[in-house]
Amino acid sequence: MNYSIALIPGDGIGPEVLAPARAVLDAAGTKYGHVFTYVELEAGGRAIDRAGEPLPKETLEAAKRCDAVLLGAVGGPKWETLPGHLRPERALLGLRASLGVFANLRPAALLPQLRAACPLKDEVLIASNPAGKPGFDLLIVRELTGGIYFGERGRSADGSSAFDTETYSRTEIERVLRIGYAAAAGRRQKLCVVDKANVLESSRLWRETAQALSGEYPDIETSYLYVDNAAMQLIRAPGQFDVIVTSNLFGDILSDEASALTGSIGMLASASVGIPPENGSAVMGLYEPIHGSAPDIAGKDAANPLAAILSTALMLRYSFGLETEAAAIEGAVSAVLDTGLRTSDIAVRSGTAAETITGTREMGEAVLKYL
Ligand code: IPM
Ligand code: MG
Repeated sequence: MNYSIALIPGDGIGPEVLAPARAVLDAAGTKYGHVFTYVELEAGGRAIDRAGEPLPKETLEAAKRCDAVLLGAVGGPKWETLPGHLRPERALLGLRASLGVFANLRPAALLPQLRAACPLKDEVLIASNPAGKPGFDLLIVRELTGGIYFGERGRSADGSSAFDTETYSRTEIERVLRIGYAAAAGRRQKLCVVDKANVLESSRLWRETAQALSGEYPDIETSYLYVDNAAMQLIRAPGQFDVIVTSNLFGDILSDEASALTGSIGMLASASVGIPPENGSAVMGLYEPIHGSAPDIAGKDAANPLAAILSTALMLRYSFGLETEAAAIEGAVSAVLDTGLRTSDIAVRSGTAAETITGTREMGEAVLKYL
């Protein structure tokens, strides 16, 4: 099959991590008989410099014509003083909203090879883990096109006060919950709704909607946590979680926390999807590592490309239905980690025989070798 992919490298380490990701996709294509064609597009700071806006119309229109979008990262100090609507981050929000990808899936699992890079003690990792060994395997489903990220905001006339608003409709909550339930059905049948229903009205609507919907999924155990408690439970007993469904802002925060438990934010991939088409054709999706543009290490061949590479696996799985190919990429990443090769973010025993520290390029090449 032929698939067209919009490549948006963006800023900072974005281009460096997308290069190996693209090479891995091509290698998977060659191995399994698929052709991936790329349309390279500009967004973020680069687009501001060249076109005066973070998400040029041409970028959005060309991205929509592709089967899926692979994005590196956007943002950097150079553009930090621009007004909100002109910041590079607007490109991300605009893409997410315009592509209608309201569910952001962020899988966070502790790979056994990275046990030492996880800051938690063995007993914490074992206690709550049904598998009975140190580890966890959870999926955060973050609502991505609503809530406070997209609500009304502003400043008072004299600039001395400012506001942002969290608004959710039942429809928005229900559709992302359904994606969470579908994911839980293919996993360990547990779904935890995270909100702040003891304080926020929008959270009470989340909880009511989930309570009503949970009856349709009797095989899935639905539970509820306030977000402050959830943040604590994640570092107290991460093994208790299977699927977490939550709002845009809470999901943003909790996924960074979960990523640190996997060893590094440089390991976490994400898939953003909408409602799958009924004709079984490709599902438009936006795939991106959850890390940012990391300007401090940009251009130094120091970034971990694994989150970007693992994002391509998610693309193959969710947009193209290519499970074997996706698993092959994940297997290659695992095989490379078995050899002890590490970028510096996931290295803990640096300089020992067990670990070899490497850079972005070499890490990407190693994955290719094992594919
Ligand atoms: C993420 C990022 C973005 C977000 C930023 C860069 C706008 O933190 O994808 O988690 O907040 O959604
Ligand atoms: Mg974030």
